[in-house]
Amino acid sequence: MIEKLENLLKEASSEISKADSKEKVLLLKTRYVGRKGEIASFLKDLGGLPAEERKAAGEAINRAKDAIEKEVERLLAGFDEREKALLLKTDRVDVTLPGRRVPLGKRHPVTQVMDSVEAIFSGLGFDIAEGPEVELDYYNFEALNLPKDHPARDMQDTFYINEEVLLRTHTSAVQPRVMERERPPLRVIAPGTVYRRDSDITHTPMFHQVEGFMVDKGVRFSDLKGILTQFLHELFGENTGIRFRPSFFPFTEPSAEVDIRCVICSGSGCRVCKGSGWLEILGAGMIHPEVFRTVKYDPEEYTGFAFGLGIERIAMLKFGIDDLRLFFENDIRFLRQF
Ligand code: DAH
Repeated sequence: MIEKLENLLKEASSEISKADSKEKVLLLKTRYVGRKGEIASFLKDLGGLPAEERKAAGEAINRAKDAIEKEVERLLAGFDEREKALLLKTDRVDVTLPGRRVPLGKRHPVTQVMDSVEAIFSGLGFDIAEGPEVELDYYNFEALNLPKDHPARDMQDTFYINEEVLLRTHTSAVQPRVMERERPPLRVIAPGTVYRRDSDITHTPMFHQVEGFMVDKGVRFSDLKGILTQFLHELFGENTGIRFRPSFFPFTEPSAEVDIRCVICSGSGCRVCKGSGWLEILGAGMIHPEVFRTVKYDPEEYTGFAFGLGIERIAMLKFGIDDLRLFFENDIRFLRQF
């Protein structure tokens, strides 16, 4: 029996050493030292041996079993080791690699100009007000001294929803809304979206404006000039030339249009300023007494100025963009530049 055991041991260790995978080693383990394996059958035969041989045989079987089990463990540990090493190599995290950058969005150029305009006027003590984009004819026109048959309504081709409701054509509509619910002194700007039936390279049916107004006792045209000059210098630079030209708006008297020196040619004349050297930048004036009467302010007691400017126009000049439609196509390659 001892001899047979020794043969088995030899066979087992040679078989096991040939096994080239964990699975094969485990199969051999079952075959030799499993519950119904070769060693187990030796144990079964133990009963048939004469009593004096049993002890030695039993010990030999146990030694053989231990030896096989040790060999199996050694091999399995080797496989585990190699598996781990492989995993370390292929599944390694290189902590020195720079992280992947999340692409950051940028603010739209229109928003950027809007934000700067708001920041400048906040610095001058103006509050920010808002009004609805779907507006009553009353606030958009009538309260601004533009009755239904007023020819100046033609200046702003209007999207009507019905007789009394429209898409506001200018942020001036916020003026009577604020004045109707608040008393002077007032210093307010109203940024927002406006709509007109107009579409070509320099007009889109939707665009943005900022309206501003100041009402108090003793507000004069020189206050208007001072505030707007300060504003334009902050926006376009300290040395930007500015001029006020007489103009007409139904809700201001007197009215003016304000130009800046052409930011492209500095005044020598170019395509953008059509050779004039000047760029029209906003409309303004002293608030018409009729507007005050409509909101129940006494025009003998209060005076005020108002102005309105187009955000896209300013963005075009500031960033040197010559096609207005680029602002609304939302081409990421265009937007990334600002
Ligand atoms: N609302 C005018 C427009 O959209 C701009 C404007 C002109 C606003 C003169 C004013 C102003 O407040 O005084 O064309």
